[in-house]
Amino acid sequence: MKNTTEDKKVINKLQKDTQEFFLGKINGNLWPYVYGAPQDDSDPVRGGILYNKVLEWEQDYYLYKYEAELFQTKGHLLTSLIGSNATFIELGPGSEQSVRLKTLPLLKTCPDLSGYLGIDISQSFLDKVIEVIHSAFPSIFIDGIQADFTQLKDLPEFGKPVVFFKGSTIANLKRDEVPVFISYIKKLVGKKHYLLVVHDANQDEISLMKAYDNSRVAVFIKNIMYRLYRDVIGEGMEPEPFRYKPEWEPETHELKHVLTATKSQQFELHGHTIEIEEGQKFHTFSSFKYPIEVFQNMLSLTGYKPIDFVLDNSGRIAAHIFAG
Ligand SMILES: C[S@@+](CC[C@H](N)C(=O)[O-])C[C@H]1O[C@@H](n2cnc3c(N)ncnc32)[C@H](O)[C@@H]1O
Repeated sequence: MKNTTEDKKVINKLQKDTQEFFLGKINGNLWPYVYGAPQDDSDPVRGGILYNKVLEWEQDYYLYKYEAELFQTKGHLLTSLIGSNATFIELGPGSEQSVRLKTLPLLKTCPDLSGYLGIDISQSFLDKVIEVIHSAFPSIFIDGIQADFTQLKDLPEFGKPVVFFKGSTIANLKRDEVPVFISYIKKLVGKKHYLLVVHDANQDEISLMKAYDNSRVAVFIKNIMYRLYRDVIGEGMEPEPFRYKPEWEPETHELKHVLTATKSQQFELHGHTIEIEEGQKFHTFSSFKYPIEVFQNMLSLTGYKPIDFVLDNSGRIAAHIFAG
């Protein structure tokens, strides 16, 4: 990832979020920082790499596999609702694998696709995305914007824009952030468009726990502490002594990613002394598992009209089309 102005903005927000998190003013706010990249070979910050290990090796982590299957086998049901001459604007397209397994199969079902614009904070991801999409669609408009998709001021004009937000990333936003973010996207596009958004609607605690309560997810979530140590807190903090355990709250459809301190410690953070006690719980962020209707109602409040949705074969992963 290149060090650009956008990355600096992310670091400033990271400092504020870290301070509020450890001062107990806010919790569940660390989702934007989980995919940290190492700065050199000895850097333990490797959230993105650890997440890929979850995808590759964790048999019970179904989200990615089932979403890929959905696009590969039922993508046409979604794109036929959108029709021809669409330009896809993808928020956070992700790795080459993600684009090959999810984005590309979906785009290939589009009748007369007009264009593709990827927006990602990571330039290296974007470069690959553009290469992969261009090799499949050599004659259409393809571009990438390296930026924080929560901080965009404007977007290029397209005839028939489709905002595409895959990977259940929307369900990592805090619940009160979703309408704010979605309203901002609607305003940003500024004209009639479609929103194609994917989330996990699974309410079954057993399969949820199998997916998240395992050693690979634990190492991935625990890595957030290394990110806070490296980019905000520094010497004085011990990032390792935390234990991961997800907690499921069916009433709010919230799977909380909780780290518990396994050792007491004290460190300085921007003029505040932070004291952590052994056994103290930290709610880092959540993966919300909205049932279909809850999700549709939430987006309807922002002015989006639900057109339809398609479920994967397990009935867990939902891909929605909204009209904005
Ligand atoms: C976990 S990956 C998910 C990728 C993809 N959506 C998928 O389904 O596999 C998150 C992606 O979003 C990007 N990303 C995360 N937060 C972002 C932000 N605020 N602005 C732009 N890109 C962001 C990351 O660089 C990464 O490519």
